[in-house]
Amino acid sequence: RPRVLSGAQPTADSYHLGNYIGAFRQWVALQDEFEAFYFIPDMHAITVDYDPVQLRERTYVAAAQLIAAGVDPERSALFVQSHVPEHAQLAWVLNGITGFGEASRMTQFKDKSAKTGAESASVGLFTYPILMAADILIYQADRVPVGEDQRQHVELTRNLAQRFNHRFGETFTVPEPHIVKDVAKIYDLQDPSGKMSKSFSSPTGVVNLMDDPKKAAKKIRSAVTDSGTDIRFDPEQKPGISNLLTIYSALTDRSVDDIVGEYAGQQYGHLKVALADIVADLVADFGDRTRELLGDRAELDRLLALGAERARAVAAPTLELVYERSGFVKAK
Ligand code: TYM
Repeated sequence: RPRVLSGAQPTADSYHLGNYIGAFRQWVALQDEFEAFYFIPDMHAITVDYDPVQLRERTYVAAAQLIAAGVDPERSALFVQSHVPEHAQLAWVLNGITGFGEASRMTQFKDKSAKTGAESASVGLFTYPILMAADILIYQADRVPVGEDQRQHVELTRNLAQRFNHRFGETFTVPEPHIVKDVAKIYDLQDPSGKMSKSFSSPTGVVNLMDDPKKAAKKIRSAVTDSGTDIRFDPEQKPGISNLLTIYSALTDRSVDDIVGEYAGQQYGHLKVALADIVADLVADFGDRTRELLGDRAELDRLLALGAERARAVAAPTLELVYERSGFVKAK
């Protein structure tokens, strides 16, 4: 079976609705057709200021949330990045074939270091996309389901795979990004010109999957909408209402046209109230399942160990091949 791989950083107390709609739903859907590898990139999370106690807890919460979202740890390998040391080992090799200029063009680094300035950003934040390339290539992944914001990193990964193959002989599968256009970018509820984001959005602009249902509903009801009154899908003229239509459509598996038809002649408020209920139900359900899973840490540890074991079974032979191609003497 072809392979799919993706990861989501444990850098907040909860994942948000953008992660769920833009990424996790695709992860879940692809589990049937693909051999799936889904992981929690804790090593990426240490490239910005963080608290170790918090990181450990967030990693468990992330695992529980991914299972609650529908990742099936018996079918798919669900694991923690630091449990599979081959990621970091391959990243070092890839560092050697990545140009400084090439790495400097990664826009996420520019965005994430904008607050402090590049001078005080960590070198880890700078080389982050190279670790991400290693995450993907170590599994010979065919497809990488991500949101639009990760496209450039997958593009870099493809370039590095091709470069390595060209210089050292066919080694890596060149992966394809799997980006579902309609949901690839969910926008901030308070500022629909920017993406919903754990680091950039205001607290009321983001629905966290662990939000209190009432609070989540309120965020939807108070989403910024556009001037005018008619409900139609027009991301240019009506980014606010279009974002809500996208969310509505994704969560109900109904087409945007169908929803627009239903609300013809009605006010924004009608749509918001209905969507608020849908989102409240989602987070209520999601929160319950996540808390239940978090109640049994031993079981989470067992599932993550199972995932890491499956992951290493694929990662170790890839690294061995890479070391051999790279000219390292085999350890005897
Ligand atoms: P991260 O942790 O920021 O986000 C996890 C996933 O959620 C998607 N996403 C969104 N999709 C739509 N609308 C939004 N507003 C939105 N916000 C986030 C992201 O595109 C992503 O798919 N570098 C990655 C993590 C990573 C990774 C990997 C991903 C590390 N190694 C290897 C794939 C393969 C990141 O920071 O995603």
